[in-house]
Amino acid sequence: MKIDILTLFPEMFPGVFGSSILKHAQEKELVSINVVDFRTYADNKHHKVDDYPYGGGAGMVLRPQPIFDAVADLEHNSSEKPRVVLLCPQGKTFTQKKAEELAQEKHLVFLCGHYEGYDERIREHLVTDEVSIGDYVLTGGEVGAMVLTDSIVRLLPGVLGNAESAVTDSFSTGLLEHPHYTRPADFRGLQVPKVLLSGHHLHIEEWRSKEALRRTWQRRPDLLQNRPLTKEEQLWLKEIEEEAKKDL
Ligand code: ADE
Repeated sequence: MKIDILTLFPEMFPGVFGSSILKHAQEKELVSINVVDFRTYADNKHHKVDDYPYGGGAGMVLRPQPIFDAVADLEHNSSEKPRVVLLCPQGKTFTQKKAEELAQEKHLVFLCGHYEGYDERIREHLVTDEVSIGDYVLTGGEVGAMVLTDSIVRLLPGVLGNAESAVTDSFSTGLLEHPHYTRPADFRGLQVPKVLLSGHHLHIEEWRSKEALRRTWQRRPDLLQNRPLTKEEQLWLKEIEEEAKKDL
Protein backbone atom coordinates (compact mmCIF):
# COMPACT_ATOMS: atom_id res chain seq x y z
CA MET A 1 0.00 0.00 0.00
CA LYS A 2 1.07 3.55 -0.71
CA ILE A 3 -0.16 6.48 1.39
CA ASP A 4 0.55 10.04 0.25
CA ILE A 5 -0.19 12.82 2.70
CA LEU A 6 -0.58 16.37 1.37
CA THR A 7 0.04 18.96 4.06
CA LEU A 8 1.56 22.39 4.67
CA PHE A 9 3.19 21.08 7.87
CA PRO A 10 5.25 17.98 7.01
CA GLU A 11 7.31 18.44 10.17
CA MET A 12 4.33 17.24 12.23
CA PHE A 13 4.65 13.63 11.01
CA PRO A 14 8.09 12.06 11.67
CA GLY A 15 7.45 11.31 15.36
CA VAL A 16 4.27 9.35 14.72
CA PHE A 17 5.44 7.60 11.54
CA GLY A 18 8.97 6.98 12.83
CA SER A 19 7.95 4.96 15.89
CA SER A 20 6.62 1.57 16.85
CA ILE A 21 4.40 -0.42 14.47
CA LEU A 22 4.18 2.27 11.76
CA LYS A 23 7.97 2.42 11.64
CA HIS A 24 8.30 -1.38 11.40
CA ALA A 25 5.60 -1.63 8.73
CA GLN A 26 7.57 0.78 6.54
CA GLU A 27 10.87 -0.97 7.23
CA LYS A 28 9.27 -4.26 6.19
CA GLU A 29 7.96 -2.49 3.05
CA LEU A 30 4.36 -3.40 3.86
CA VAL A 31 3.47 0.26 3.37
CA SER A 32 5.16 3.26 1.87
CA ILE A 33 4.21 6.58 3.48
CA ASN A 34 5.09 9.76 1.67
CA VAL A 35 4.51 13.18 3.27
CA VAL A 36 4.34 15.96 0.68
CA ASP A 37 4.36 19.71 1.27
CA PHE A 38 1.79 20.83 -1.29
CA ARG A 39 3.12 24.41 -1.11
CA THR A 40 5.87 23.21 -3.45
CA TYR A 41 3.20 22.80 -6.17
CA ALA A 42 1.93 26.41 -5.99
CA ASP A 43 2.48 27.99 -9.40
CA ASN A 44 2.85 31.59 -8.21
CA LYS A 45 6.00 33.45 -7.25
CA HIS A 46 5.51 33.37 -3.48
CA HIS A 47 4.12 29.82 -3.35
CA LYS A 48 0.85 31.11 -1.97
CA VAL A 49 -1.60 28.29 -1.32
CA ASP A 50 -4.60 30.31 -0.15
CA ASP A 51 -6.55 33.37 -1.18
CA TYR A 52 -9.45 35.59 -0.06
CA PRO A 53 -12.95 34.11 -0.30
CA TYR A 54 -15.13 35.29 -3.18
CA GLY A 55 -18.04 37.22 -1.73
CA GLY A 56 -15.93 38.46 1.18
CA GLY A 57 -15.82 37.39 4.80
CA ALA A 58 -13.21 36.30 7.30
CA GLY A 59 -10.63 33.56 6.78
CA MET A 60 -8.72 32.35 3.77
CA VAL A 61 -9.57 29.58 1.31
CA LEU A 62 -7.15 26.96 -0.06
CA ARG A 63 -6.64 27.48 -3.79
CA PRO A 64 -7.47 24.56 -6.04
CA GLN A 65 -4.33 24.72 -8.22
CA PRO A 66 -1.62 23.43 -5.83
CA ILE A 67 -3.82 20.58 -4.63
CA PHE A 68 -5.06 19.54 -8.10
CA ASP A 69 -1.49 19.55 -9.43
CA ALA A 70 -0.09 17.67 -6.43
CA VAL A 71 -2.74 14.94 -6.75
CA ALA A 72 -2.20 14.72 -10.54
CA ASP A 73 1.51 14.25 -9.92
CA LEU A 74 0.90 11.50 -7.35
CA GLU A 75 -1.60 9.78 -9.68
CA HIS A 76 0.93 9.93 -12.49
CA ASN A 77 3.29 7.73 -10.49
CA SER A 78 0.58 5.22 -9.67
CA SER A 79 -0.96 2.37 -11.66
CA GLU A 80 -4.39 2.76 -10.03
CA LYS A 81 -6.57 5.76 -9.34
CA PRO A 82 -6.09 6.56 -5.65
CA ARG A 83 -8.83 7.21 -3.12
CA VAL A 84 -8.45 10.89 -2.26
CA VAL A 85 -9.55 11.46 1.33
CA LEU A 86 -10.19 14.96 2.63
CA LEU A 87 -9.83 15.37 6.40
CA CYS A 88 -12.38 17.85 7.69
CA PRO A 89 -14.97 18.19 10.47
CA GLN A 90 -17.78 18.06 7.86
CA GLY A 91 -16.80 14.55 6.75
CA LYS A 92 -18.38 11.25 7.75
CA THR A 93 -17.19 10.13 11.18
CA PHE A 94 -14.31 7.66 10.90
CA THR A 95 -15.02 4.12 12.11
CA GLN A 96 -13.28 0.74 12.22
CA LYS A 97 -15.47 -0.25 9.26
CA LYS A 98 -14.08 2.64 7.21
CA ALA A 99 -10.53 1.69 8.25
CA GLU A 100 -11.20 -1.88 7.01
CA GLU A 101 -12.59 -0.53 3.73
CA LEU A 102 -9.61 1.78 3.12
CA ALA A 103 -7.16 -0.99 4.08
CA GLN A 104 -8.24 -2.81 0.86
CA GLU A 105 -6.92 0.00 -1.35
CA LYS A 106 -3.51 0.07 -3.06
CA HIS A 107 -3.10 3.85 -3.01
CA LEU A 108 -4.53 6.46 -0.64
CA VAL A 109 -4.04 10.22 -0.71
CA PHE A 110 -4.90 12.22 2.42
CA LEU A 111 -5.53 15.95 2.07
CA CYS A 112 -4.88 18.02 5.18
CA GLY A 113 -6.03 21.61 5.33
CA HIS A 114 -4.89 23.90 8.12
CA TYR A 115 -6.91 26.90 9.42
CA GLU A 116 -8.44 27.57 6.01
CA GLY A 117 -11.45 26.28 4.17
CA TYR A 118 -11.09 24.42 0.89
CA ASP A 119 -12.21 25.75 -2.46
CA GLU A 120 -15.37 23.74 -3.09
CA ARG A 121 -14.08 22.47 -6.47
CA ILE A 122 -11.52 20.40 -4.55
CA ARG A 123 -14.37 18.63 -2.78
CA GLU A 124 -16.46 18.22 -5.90
CA HIS A 125 -13.89 17.17 -8.49
CA LEU A 126 -10.91 15.67 -6.71
CA VAL A 127 -11.96 14.16 -3.42
CA THR A 128 -13.54 10.70 -3.23
CA ASP A 129 -14.15 10.60 0.56
CA GLU A 130 -14.55 13.24 3.27
CA VAL A 131 -13.66 12.00 6.73
CA SER A 132 -13.86 13.53 10.22
CA ILE A 133 -12.21 11.86 13.19
CA GLY A 134 -14.90 13.10 15.58
CA ASP A 135 -17.29 15.89 16.46
CA TYR A 136 -14.73 18.48 17.48
CA VAL A 137 -12.66 20.97 15.51
CA LEU A 138 -8.89 20.56 15.18
CA THR A 139 -6.44 23.16 13.88
CA GLY A 140 -5.95 21.04 10.78
CA GLY A 141 -6.35 17.65 9.15
CA GLU A 142 -2.85 16.41 10.06
CA VAL A 143 -3.75 14.69 13.32
CA GLY A 144 -6.70 13.09 11.51
CA ALA A 145 -4.39 11.81 8.76
CA MET A 146 -2.17 10.26 11.44
CA VAL A 147 -5.19 8.59 13.03
CA LEU A 148 -6.34 7.14 9.70
CA THR A 149 -2.85 6.00 8.75
CA ASP A 150 -2.32 4.27 12.09
CA SER A 151 -5.66 2.47 12.10
CA ILE A 152 -5.35 1.40 8.44
CA VAL A 153 -1.71 0.27 8.46
CA ARG A 154 -2.17 -1.99 11.47
CA LEU A 155 -4.80 -3.90 9.46
CA LEU A 156 -2.42 -4.69 6.57
CA PRO A 157 -1.36 -8.34 6.40
CA GLY A 158 1.93 -8.96 8.20
CA VAL A 159 1.95 -5.69 10.15
CA LEU A 160 0.81 -7.00 13.53
CA GLY A 161 2.97 -9.77 14.99
CA ASN A 162 0.16 -11.84 16.40
CA ALA A 163 -2.28 -12.42 13.54
CA GLU A 164 -5.13 -12.66 16.02
CA SER A 165 -4.70 -9.28 17.65
CA ALA A 166 -6.46 -7.32 14.90
CA VAL A 167 -9.34 -9.81 14.77
CA THR A 168 -10.28 -9.71 18.47
CA ASP A 169 -9.86 -5.91 18.80
CA SER A 170 -12.59 -3.78 20.19
CA PHE A 171 -14.94 -2.91 17.28
CA SER A 172 -13.75 -5.59 14.83
CA THR A 173 -16.03 -8.03 16.61
CA GLY A 174 -18.67 -5.34 17.07
CA LEU A 175 -18.03 -5.54 20.84
CA LEU A 176 -15.59 -3.85 23.21
CA GLU A 177 -12.73 -6.06 24.41
CA HIS A 178 -13.00 -8.21 27.53
CA PRO A 179 -10.87 -7.25 30.59
CA HIS A 180 -7.24 -8.43 30.67
CA TYR A 181 -5.12 -9.51 33.65
CA THR A 182 -1.49 -10.45 34.15
CA ARG A 183 0.63 -11.57 37.09
CA PRO A 184 0.44 -11.47 40.05
CA ALA A 185 -2.82 -13.36 40.69
CA ASP A 186 -3.09 -11.46 43.98
CA PHE A 187 -1.98 -7.82 43.73
CA ARG A 188 -2.21 -6.23 47.19
CA GLY A 189 -5.32 -8.24 47.91
CA LEU A 190 -6.91 -7.58 44.48
CA GLN A 191 -7.66 -10.95 42.88
CA VAL A 192 -7.66 -12.10 39.26
CA PRO A 193 -10.94 -13.86 38.34
CA LYS A 194 -10.56 -17.55 39.25
CA VAL A 195 -11.63 -18.87 35.84
CA LEU A 196 -8.57 -17.30 34.20
CA LEU A 197 -6.28 -19.37 36.45
CA SER A 198 -8.22 -22.61 35.82
CA GLY A 199 -6.45 -23.65 32.60
CA HIS A 200 -9.88 -24.62 31.22
CA HIS A 201 -9.78 -23.03 27.75
CA LEU A 202 -13.45 -23.39 26.94
CA HIS A 203 -14.52 -21.79 30.24
CA ILE A 204 -12.00 -19.00 29.70
CA GLU A 205 -13.29 -18.30 26.19
CA GLU A 206 -16.88 -18.24 27.47
CA TRP A 207 -15.93 -15.88 30.30
CA ARG A 208 -14.17 -13.55 27.85
CA SER A 209 -17.09 -13.52 25.43
CA LYS A 210 -19.58 -12.77 28.18
CA GLU A 211 -17.39 -10.04 29.71
CA ALA A 212 -16.94 -8.44 26.26
CA LEU A 213 -20.71 -8.36 25.99
CA ARG A 214 -21.05 -6.92 29.55
CA ARG A 215 -18.50 -4.17 28.78
CA THR A 216 -20.32 -3.23 25.59
CA TRP A 217 -23.72 -3.25 27.30
CA GLN A 218 -22.38 -1.05 30.13
CA ARG A 219 -20.33 1.42 28.11
CA ARG A 220 -21.55 1.40 24.52
CA PRO A 221 -25.09 0.00 24.40
CA ASP A 222 -25.47 1.76 21.01
CA LEU A 223 -23.11 -0.84 19.50
CA LEU A 224 -25.58 -3.61 20.39
CA GLN A 225 -28.43 -1.93 18.49
CA ASN A 226 -27.24 -2.96 15.03
CA ARG A 227 -25.42 -6.16 15.91
CA PRO A 228 -27.32 -9.44 15.75
CA LEU A 229 -26.76 -11.54 18.91
CA THR A 230 -26.25 -15.30 18.86
CA LYS A 231 -28.56 -17.46 21.02
CA GLU A 232 -25.77 -17.78 23.57
CA GLU A 233 -25.19 -14.02 23.64
CA GLN A 234 -28.92 -13.41 24.16
CA LEU A 235 -28.82 -15.69 27.21
CA TRP A 236 -25.72 -13.99 28.56
CA LEU A 237 -27.30 -10.57 28.06
CA LYS A 238 -30.29 -11.66 30.19
CA GLU A 239 -27.86 -12.85 32.89
CA ILE A 240 -25.87 -9.60 32.65
CA GLU A 241 -29.05 -7.55 33.10
CA GLU A 242 -30.09 -9.69 36.11
CA GLU A 243 -26.60 -9.41 37.62
CA ALA A 244 -26.70 -5.61 37.22
CA LYS A 245 -30.04 -5.44 39.06
CA LYS A 246 -28.55 -7.47 41.94
CA ASP A 247 -25.59 -5.08 42.17
CA LEU A 248 -27.86 -2.05 42.63
N1 ADE B 1 -9.82 19.07 10.63
C1 ADE B 1 -10.34 19.86 11.59
N2 ADE B 1 -11.13 19.17 12.41
C2 ADE B 1 -11.14 17.88 11.98
C3 ADE B 1 -11.76 16.67 12.42
N3 ADE B 1 -12.57 16.63 13.48
N4 ADE B 1 -11.53 15.55 11.73
C4 ADE B 1 -10.71 15.57 10.64
N5 ADE B 1 -10.10 16.66 10.18
C5 ADE B 1 -10.30 17.82 10.84
